[in-house]
Amino acid sequence: GGKQQGRKAVAHGGSGKGARRGRRKRGANGLGAVGSGDGTGHGCGTASSVQGRQLPGAWRRFRPRTSARDDAIIGGAPIRPNGFVHHGPMDGVSAYHCTMDTLTLRTPDDWHLHLRDGAALHSVVAASARQFGRAIIMPNLRPPITTVAEATAYRDRIRLALDEAVGRGEISQAQAASFRPLMTLYLTEKTSVDEIRQAAAGDVVTAVKLYPAGATTNSDAGVRAIDRVIPVLEAMAEAGMPLLVHGEVTDPDVDIFDREAVFIDRVMIPLRTRLPQLKVVFEHITTRQAAEYIKTDSAEPGMLGATITPQHLLYNRNAIFTGGLRPHWYCLPVLKREIHRTALVEVATSGDPRFFLGTDSAPHARALKEVGNGCAGCYTGPHALELYAWAFEAAGALDKLDAFASLHGARFYGRAPNTGTITLKRQDWAIPESLPFAGTEIVPLAAGETLHWQVVGEGRSA
Ligand code: NCD
Ligand code: ZN
Repeated sequence: GGKQQGRKAVAHGGSGKGARRGRRKRGANGLGAVGSGDGTGHGCGTASSVQGRQLPGAWRRFRPRTSARDDAIIGGAPIRPNGFVHHGPMDGVSAYHCTMDTLTLRTPDDWHLHLRDGAALHSVVAASARQFGRAIIMPNLRPPITTVAEATAYRDRIRLALDEAVGRGEISQAQAASFRPLMTLYLTEKTSVDEIRQAAAGDVVTAVKLYPAGATTNSDAGVRAIDRVIPVLEAMAEAGMPLLVHGEVTDPDVDIFDREAVFIDRVMIPLRTRLPQLKVVFEHITTRQAAEYIKTDSAEPGMLGATITPQHLLYNRNAIFTGGLRPHWYCLPVLKREIHRTALVEVATSGDPRFFLGTDSAPHARALKEVGNGCAGCYTGPHALELYAWAFEAAGALDKLDAFASLHGARFYGRAPNTGTITLKRQDWAIPESLPFAGTEIVPLAAGETLHWQVVGEGRSA
């Protein structure tokens, strides 16, 4: 027996207050035409204007909004083959049925992270460095990071922010020094083959991110027609540089809940058929279709992977509407039906190395979430590992967390696992209602709710 398992992770709406607001989605045709933002709005819009087509029916009443917008160590503890370490009474039973109070993992990596820049960067960087050894840093700043020079300068600003966080006592010197930001370039239709070659020759840029223009936060400069970037993608395939894909079409005729599934047929399959040598990560998958697509793919190991966020493992779309609109559960791709959540949990806990951790922690100030057209993104940086532990425990698969969080991604990216560890303790704690953020405040995902695992001490060993 032991502690209860299967804590309800479904259709969970949180305890925060609902905020009312309207939101309008505008999109483009597939990776088709979208206009660029004009600087109005609050700067984190998704799609902007629709060009060259009539808005259908009721949409006409609204003008398109033009918002710019290794191995586990631990002396004395029993180590299971998967590196999952138990401290506490094991009694020879599985983790799921076991009462245990401590969980130690190899230091994990976050393969999808938004750190922002400036004051926001300074507010959030320590949280990630406390839990993760490496992180893929997304390039959707304003303006986006499109060159190796910009990526290098951004990496240096991240390092500086880490040092300052040490100065404030938020992380240790050793954590700051050992946190590795793996930089990405934001793919535009102007990205040159030369830039890709330069990126591949250096050691700053790890991957290139494809945002369909208008699909998500700061995607205006993204790709409208995939045909226009084929030479660049060929250069990436040749260089072994992975393409990280935001997999949603932006066609306004496609229902927002179908945009990922449609993307597989319209973009992902044709692209990978045309460029089978291109390494691809299908980022933040949210649907049964995407899980199936990855699971049944026949490419050799290391050619296709997928990240999964904590929110898509813990919540279905009811969470956005429970007792009123809840903007802090709004991210893109948007939460889906329960059948999709369960499909994601199944693959994440399956041990299949193509699925790995990527928080998509995407901080937006409270004021930009609790408004009439709130920004997309859930802030999970400070409690990411605890959220994943909750999801894996609810699935009776805590023993699979180590591989998902600390091995699969490293393997995909051709890197050794981290050598340190991080320990979580089974103890109830409440997620803060808000946190300081760039002179204002931010509401973390599931603010005010109780989590049953907590990273102890100062976080990961460096
Ligand atoms: C991300 C952001 O805010 O940068 N938002 C989100 O909802 N996930 C962008 C992204 O990854 O789509
Ligand atoms: Zn993201």
